Amino acid sequence: MFITIEGSDGSGKSTQFELLAEYLRKEGYDLVTTREPGGTNIGEQVRECLHDVRNERMTAEAEVLLYSASRAQLVEEIIGPALAANRIVLSDRYYDSTLAYQGYGRQLDLDALVNITKFATGGLKPDLTLLLEVDIIIGLSRRESGGVEINRMDLQATAFYKRVKRGYQTLVAADPDRWVVIDANRSTDMVQDDVRRLVEERLHEEGYGN
Ligand code: TMP
Repeated sequence: MFITIEGSDGSGKSTQFELLAEYLRKEGYDLVTTREPGGTNIGEQVRECLHDVRNERMTAEAEVLLYSASRAQLVEEIIGPALAANRIVLSDRYYDSTLAYQGYGRQLDLDALVNITKFATGGLKPDLTLLLEVDIIIGLSRRESGGVEINRMDLQATAFYKRVKRGYQTLVAADPDRWVVIDANRSTDMVQDDVRRLVEERLHEEGYGN
């Protein structure tokens, strides 16, 4: 089973991801965790290039192809083999980030992005995607005060984040069975309770665990 976590910057996504992974492992699930961009040696090198604030001249087209390159490597090297072995794969971001950030945020042609994504992933879709939805101002202030790495994508204007948020909402509306939306404006514990409950429900439905 393939589970992905998505969210705007400052949604607490990576914290929720770590807590969920720790919990599922403790509960005895056979879990593989990964992140985008990155997750493989080649992907981590691509991540450095993508996040480097000195790369301010990177075009939107180059950006999307780099994210897709990292993704292609990840699917082939990690996600595909893990799913074939019937393991649970949990990924911090996947192609929905490209549709939301490059498609809706940067306003690149969505049909082109869907095709590039299919090429990179061989059409591999997540079974379940959690969207951590946060108020844009709360998200940005969390990023500024959180002591986390500020990457090239963090330097975008508020209008960009509004488009990303609306983009995620459009993706959810188009495929509601795959998505679960969680209110991430609340405390870490409250959000994590929802995350665990929703993921475990789905795992049980799919026949994993007890
Ligand atoms: P994160 O490590 O905080 O998730 O940051 C990754 C950044 O990369 C975040 O701003 C979203 C961005 N991103 C894209 O713009 N497109 C993509 O396809 C992916 C995977 C990430």
